[in-house]
Amino acid sequence: MKKRIGILTGGGDVQPLNAIIASAKDTANALNFELVGIIKGWNGALEADYIDLSKVTLDPAIGGTILKSSRVNIDKIEKGPEIVLDNLKRNNISGLIVIGGEDTLSNSFLIKSFPQILISKTIDNDVGKIETNQEEFRLENIINYFTLGFPTAASKISSLVSLKEGLRTTAYSHERIIIVESMGMHTGWLALSSSMGFPDFIVIPEFPLNYELFLEKVIKRYASQKHLIIVVAEGAKWRNGSFLYAEKDEHEDFEHPRFGGSATALKTRLKKDLAKYFNKRNINSVNPSYLYRSGKPNELDRFWAQRLGETAIKFLAKGINESIFLAIQKDNSGFKIKDIPLSKFNSIDELHRFVDERFYNPQEFKITEIGKKYLGEIIREIPIEEYGLNNVQ
Ligand code: F6P
Repeated sequence: MKKRIGILTGGGDVQPLNAIIASAKDTANALNFELVGIIKGWNGALEADYIDLSKVTLDPAIGGTILKSSRVNIDKIEKGPEIVLDNLKRNNISGLIVIGGEDTLSNSFLIKSFPQILISKTIDNDVGKIETNQEEFRLENIINYFTLGFPTAASKISSLVSLKEGLRTTAYSHERIIIVESMGMHTGWLALSSSMGFPDFIVIPEFPLNYELFLEKVIKRYASQKHLIIVVAEGAKWRNGSFLYAEKDEHEDFEHPRFGGSATALKTRLKKDLAKYFNKRNINSVNPSYLYRSGKPNELDRFWAQRLGETAIKFLAKGINESIFLAIQKDNSGFKIKDIPLSKFNSIDELHRFVDERFYNPQEFKITEIGKKYLGEIIREIPIEEYGLNNVQ
């Protein structure tokens, strides 16, 4: 009988998930292992809802996840970790590939003794770590340079606000302020990545909004430019720490509120405060929401998804003594995969990456030079001259 490896995807879907699964499947076949798909993330692990992936046709260029997803905290279920372990054992599954963001990956810490390979994916880009004990900031010190899905979502938001492909033209034509909502519940990486398409201001969750300063900047910039693009993360906060907008009665297993409304909230406030300056009909908001997570993966995402899927199987096929987190690391020749024993971390919280002042200037509401350097390795900056931005100011 072939040895069996399980694979699951949890949390918000991203574009390169099927690319990971397809490459894991091909590698498992080549090494004579059976890859078992676990349906709806940890939910399927609890209910032993498995499929034989050899019978499934997979297209790595199609987004979403063939295995479907859920947001399940196994710690909230009586004997949850034991049930999962028992199911895996009874079905002869000898190793597990867990693909998820911080919540999905947190479940892995509850069954640490079971051989697992963890792969991070989230358009929020918040699974990773930036070592701070260095005098000089180096990109090589970033543990897990990016999470899968972030490169595609980052290019999407950049082009969405840009002049050539995005909202800049209509904002210009109608002399409007357009506020674009970004996903990102705790972190502002996606909102910040829109910098590559040159919005005027960015508001992120890590820095509660100094509204008076922000309003002053908005008025000044509008006076000279006559149109503005503002990007606001869904999890952005007012200065008192409360969210610009959050649906409080729609919590899931991990207690996160439902977001989606920060751009509208900011628009409403600006309409009130700018009423004496110009026609308030010219302040609008847009929320692309799930479009950030949809569609096909870009080249960078797909390439690393495939490498990670393949590497995960190779590790499990060879046999591992302890669970491993597969990080994407930068060195002077580009990116590479680094295997980090899970025992290096006490909990997933140690791998929660936030935007700090090295990357974002909260006085100007914009990205810093280091921020550009970091994101420039993931998405191409849209050259300002190419887009003729100078001509419209
Ligand atoms: O975790 C990734 C994410 O895209 C967040 O940015 C967002 O708040 C969340 O998923 C929303 O996901 P869903 O509506 O699928 O629960």
